[in-house]
Amino acid sequence: MKKILVIGGGAMGSAFTVPCIENHNEVIITEPYSKVFIKDLSSKNKFHSALKIKLPKKLQFKKFSRELLKEKFDLIVIALSLSGIDFIGKELKNLKIKNPILVLTKGLKYEKKKNKISTISEQLKKNYKEMNVSVLKGPCLAKELANKNQTSVVIANRNLKVAKSIGKLISTKYYIVEYSKDIIGVEVCSAIKNIYAMIIGAGQSLNSSSNLFQKSLLEMKYLTRYFKGKDETTSGLAGVGDLYVSAAGGRNSKMGSYLGKGFTFKVAKKRFMTKDTVEGEQLAKEIGPFILKKLDKKKIPLMFSLLKALLKNQKLKLV
Ligand SMILES: NC(=O)c1ccc[n+]([C@@H]2O[C@H](COP(=O)([O-])OP(=O)(O)OC[C@H]3O[C@@H](n4cnc5c(N)ncnc54)[C@H](O)[C@@H]3O)[C@@H](O)[C@H]2O)c1
Repeated sequence: MKKILVIGGGAMGSAFTVPCIENHNEVIITEPYSKVFIKDLSSKNKFHSALKIKLPKKLQFKKFSRELLKEKFDLIVIALSLSGIDFIGKELKNLKIKNPILVLTKGLKYEKKKNKISTISEQLKKNYKEMNVSVLKGPCLAKELANKNQTSVVIANRNLKVAKSIGKLISTKYYIVEYSKDIIGVEVCSAIKNIYAMIIGAGQSLNSSSNLFQKSLLEMKYLTRYFKGKDETTSGLAGVGDLYVSAAGGRNSKMGSYLGKGFTFKVAKKRFMTKDTVEGEQLAKEIGPFILKKLDKKKIPLMFSLLKALLKNQKLKLV
C-alpha cells in the first residue's frame, strides 16, 4: 500500500482519488483554498458538491498545512487550478521533496522576468531543479472519472521509468494510462486546447465547427513545435483527444458558441455564464499578449482572432 497526497479538492482532485483508492493506496486529500470543498471533504458522507457523488469512505481529509507537506508520501498530486500554481510552488519550494510529484493542472504561465512562456512543470522546478515532476493530461471529465467511466490519460516524464511507476499506482480497468517522454508537448497541447475548444464552439453549425476543428489541429501542431514539443503529441490523448472532449461539451466551447453568435466575452460571461470558470479565457490573458507580440499571425490566424476578441473584448471575427 502506497501513500498518496492529493492537493486540491475540486472536481478533478476529488475524482482522481477514486482510482487511487480502488488501487489499494492510502489516499489523503487536502484543500488549501475553497471553503466549499473543505466543507464537502470533511463532511461525514463526503458528498462532493461539484461531482454530485459521495466520495469513497476510505478517503481521508486533512487540513492543508506546511506540516502536512513535510510528511512522507510516495506520490504528491497537484490538482489546483492554474491560479493556485504560484501558491503551491512557493509552499513546496524549501521542502526539497524528492519523491514523485504529479501535476494534473492544465495551463501555461507567462514569466515576466524572462519574457517567456513556461510550462507548469518548469514553473515548479524553477526553485528546486531536482524536483521530480511528472504531468498527467488527456481527455478526462472529472464527473465521468468519478463515476468510473472508461478514461484514458497520458503521464509524461523524460524518464519513462518514473512515469510508469506512477501509472502502476493509479491505473485501474477504467483508468487507462499511456506514457510519453514529451513533457513539454503534453503540457502545451493540454493547455492550448482550451482556447481551441472556444474557437470550435464558435462555429454555428457542425460543418463549420468541423472545419474549425481541422484548422485548430494544424495550429496546435505549429504551436507545439514552436514551444519545442513533438508533432506526434498533437495527435495523442493530450492533443486531439482532449480537444475532442472540450469541444464536444465543456465551458470553453459553450463560451465559444456565444462569441460565435456575436456577443463579446464580458457580455456573454455576465449574461449566461456568471459562475463558470472559463479556463481558455484565463489562459488567453496569461499568454495572449506574448503570442500577439512574438508569433506570426499567418501561422496561427484562429488563435490571433480569438486572443484579440478576448483581450480587447471585441466581437469575434474568425478568418
Ligand atoms: N489532468 C486531467 O486529467 C484533468 C482533467 C480535468 C481537469 N484538469 C485540470 O485540473 C485543474 C482543476 O480543475 P477542476 O475541474 O478540479 O477545477 P475546480 O474549480 O473544481 O477546482 C479548482 C481547485 O483549485 C483550487 N484553487 C482555485 N484558485 C486557487 C488559488 N488562487 N490558490 C490556490 N488554490 C486555488 C480550488 O480550491 C480547487 O481545489 C484545472 O487546471 C483543470 O484543467 C485536469
